[in-house]
Amino acid sequence: MPKLMLAGLALLAAEATAKTCFNNTVEIPVTSRNGVFDNLSTPKTNFEAAAFAISATRQGANGTEQALTDYATISKTYKISTQYCMPNADSRNAPLQILTHGIGFDKTYWDLPYNNFNYSYIDNALSHGYRTLSYDRLGIGNSSHGDPKNEIQAFLEVAALAQITQMARNGSFPGIRQKPQKVIHAGHSFGSGLTYALSAMYPSLTDGIVLTGFSFSTTFNPYFVAGANFQQANQVLSSKNYPPGYLVSSNAVANEFLFFTPPYFDPQILAFAEQNKKPVAIGELLTMGSVPMQSPFTGPVLIITGSNDVPFCGGDCLNTGGAAESIPAQGKLAFPSAKAFEAYIQPNTGHGLNLHYNATGGYEAIAGFLKNNGL
Ligand SMILES: *[C@@H]1O[C@H](CO)[C@@H](O)[C@H](O)[C@H]1NC(C)=O
Ligand SMILES: *[C@@H]1O[C@H](CO)[C@@H](O)[C@H](O)[C@H]1NC(C)=O
Ligand SMILES: *[C@@H]1O[C@H](CO)[C@@H](O)[C@H](O)[C@H]1NC(C)=O
Ligand SMILES: *[C@@H]1O[C@H](CO)[C@@H](O)[C@H](O)[C@H]1NC(C)=O
Ligand SMILES: *[C@@H]1O[C@H](CO)[C@@H](O)[C@H](O)[C@H]1NC(C)=O
Ligand SMILES: *[C@@H]1O[C@H](CO)[C@@H](O)[C@H](O)[C@H]1NC(C)=O
Ligand SMILES: *[C@@H]1O[C@H](CO)[C@@H](O)[C@H](O)[C@H]1NC(C)=O
Repeated sequence: MPKLMLAGLALLAAEATAKTCFNNTVEIPVTSRNGVFDNLSTPKTNFEAAAFAISATRQGANGTEQALTDYATISKTYKISTQYCMPNADSRNAPLQILTHGIGFDKTYWDLPYNNFNYSYIDNALSHGYRTLSYDRLGIGNSSHGDPKNEIQAFLEVAALAQITQMARNGSFPGIRQKPQKVIHAGHSFGSGLTYALSAMYPSLTDGIVLTGFSFSTTFNPYFVAGANFQQANQVLSSKNYPPGYLVSSNAVANEFLFFTPPYFDPQILAFAEQNKKPVAIGELLTMGSVPMQSPFTGPVLIITGSNDVPFCGGDCLNTGGAAESIPAQGKLAFPSAKAFEAYIQPNTGHGLNLHYNATGGYEAIAGFLKNNGL
């Protein structure tokens, strides 16, 4: 009985962590060298969306290379919708985590209000003394949208992430007056690809990276493109302000296939994810595999992926035929200079780690890794 009461008190204390957040839409100049995919017409209908998926998943072919005709520099000012959170007023000097969501979500992936926020990554990070900056990826949600083929692409989004980071570091980001001494970057899925690319292209901007729902294997990526049963976002979502070429998974069954492993989630959270789902631009799908081969990053690197992740592990991260401890563990080769590398397999979990019953177990593994590495 006394033990139970103690456990109850600890829970209350954890839940009572103060949370102060500010929403800001910032305007940032972004420049990047983009692909020009003019040997491909932007799909305008659901039939054409299926045709796109058919070519993108054809075995032995590289749809990106077939569509690519040239490169062009894009230089524009974009609006990025952000949320900055801190545990309490005297934590202004705490390390800052910059969070990049993946396909299918927006920044609320990191702060799910479902079940009174008991799945919130941000609440957990704040309880460990971190500050967080999450944002809607360029092209998605309340950030600027753009041409889904030749504009909204991976390298433009990496450049946006670099700008946001520089502003947070130099004290010019609204609300972040105290410059953080340490900046950690965490991503999910495609957001992990962007975080990895940031560490490769701007290694001095980050002190530690956490790649969730990720591996360096591209073998199973077509399962994602096929399983989404993509349709035009402006025909499926209530928000009509996505032009043709922004695609979204068709329904809750497709959403389940992409992000969930039964029976390790609450069916109501699938309904919640479905209600709040977000699209992907075809330019993102065409460029997500074009990240650098290696990163010169010297700081600590954690890859944490659900044991049953479909797009990055084909449903079983431990089945490597003996080639390595796990599929994510093979990512060590991409970080020859990292001072620490760990690949952690989160049990009983699919691709959408934050939506499974044991999400908090994964958050604790991430915080443990960061603390062990002085972050
Ligand atoms: C800030 O943004 C979140 C979504 O990220 C939203 O739920 C919340 O209502 C916003 N807060 C304010 C004060 O606008
Ligand atoms: C496909 O082609 C693109 C553009 O040439 C290239 O960046 C990418 O690495 C290729 N993908 C594969 C799997 O070979
Ligand atoms: C252009 O795309 C078609 C398929 O739509 C392909 O057969 C052709 O090889 C591509 N052209 C080039 C130059 O890659
Ligand atoms: C959230 O609450 C539900 C039911 O109260 C519980 O089953 C689940 O494990 C909790 N999830 C997290 C991530 O804490
Ligand atoms: C986007 O803006 C709408 C309306 O202004 C708001 O209701 C919603 O919470 C915002 N979403 C995010 C992810 O900030
Ligand atoms: C901070 O960084 C941003 C983005 O690179 C830059 O535009 C701005 O001039 C910098 N401000 C200061 C005070 O260094
Ligand atoms: C929950 O996650 C933690 C951290 O990975 C793990 O140690 C624990 O075994 C998990 N629990 C279940 C029931 O999967």
